[in-house]
Amino acid sequence: MITVLGSIHVDFVIRVKRFPHPGETILGHGFTILPGGKGANQAVGCGRLGVKTFMVGKIGRSFRDMLVDNFKSNNVDTSYITFTDEYETGVAVIYVNDETGENMIAVDPGADYALSRGDVDRAEPALSSSRVFLTQLEIPIELVEYSLAKAAEYVDYVVLNPAPASSLRGEVLRHVDVITPNRSEASLLTGVKVTDVKSAVEAGRRLIEMGVEHVVVTMGSEGAVLVARDHALLFPAFRVSVVDTTGAGDAFNAGLAYGLAAGLPLPESVKIGVAAAAIKVTKPGAQTGLPWRADLDVFAQRREFQEYE
Ligand code: RIB
Ligand code: NA
Repeated sequence: MITVLGSIHVDFVIRVKRFPHPGETILGHGFTILPGGKGANQAVGCGRLGVKTFMVGKIGRSFRDMLVDNFKSNNVDTSYITFTDEYETGVAVIYVNDETGENMIAVDPGADYALSRGDVDRAEPALSSSRVFLTQLEIPIELVEYSLAKAAEYVDYVVLNPAPASSLRGEVLRHVDVITPNRSEASLLTGVKVTDVKSAVEAGRRLIEMGVEHVVVTMGSEGAVLVARDHALLFPAFRVSVVDTTGAGDAFNAGLAYGLAAGLPLPESVKIGVAAAAIKVTKPGAQTGLPWRADLDVFAQRREFQEYE
């Protein structure tokens, strides 16, 4: 089983031919209102791959039924989701570029930031039955740090997706078994400017010196690099036609967590993450594009990882 702690959003998505400039109004198309948030997306990604997943998060005033029903229909247990009337539900306003599939996102966390230590403590039964704990940085950093220390007492794998980029107190990293930054997040956390595989490995080594067990730097179309104490592995990305990159990182983290929860070795789990992200970017919507178990079977066989050093 997997416990995911994190954000729950409603995404307001508009597709655009190009991004607007400041002060400019442009016409978009294809407006959709979709469930989102990195925490929720990762939980749904795990649920779809077929492992029992608990979501720990907070929903504000609006969209309650839509969000709860969505978790349930994606195999996610909602017993540890709480509600508040004091704040709006977290929202993201997202533009997706028709040409490149890239996005621009602004988030108002709303109820995400009302999550408390008490909410994490109440999720102890979930933690004690989980092999994997997964969280991100869309909730108060203080709570991320608290939850990492707590989860480390219960689960086999504490996985931290440090997104969106934010600095962390170095000492909490010793509770982390696998950290999964993208290039800019790895740069921010380590001070190493990550541009290619070589610099990704260097940043990975730095994070290991800071106390993390394993590092996976996700590099978009360049794939992913797994850095361990004494070796590094490169996982080439699949070549796909990109429709929408929103949620690619969430798909990766869900695939990785699923693999670990299923008892697979870390490199095999990273392979599943890379495959899940490849499938996701071919489909619109952060969460709507996340693969189900059957989608993955074909893909995961296709490419092996390479020894980097
Ligand atoms: O990672 C994608 C997610 O980031 C979106 O669903 C949006 O809600 C933001 O949190
Ligand atoms: Na550790």
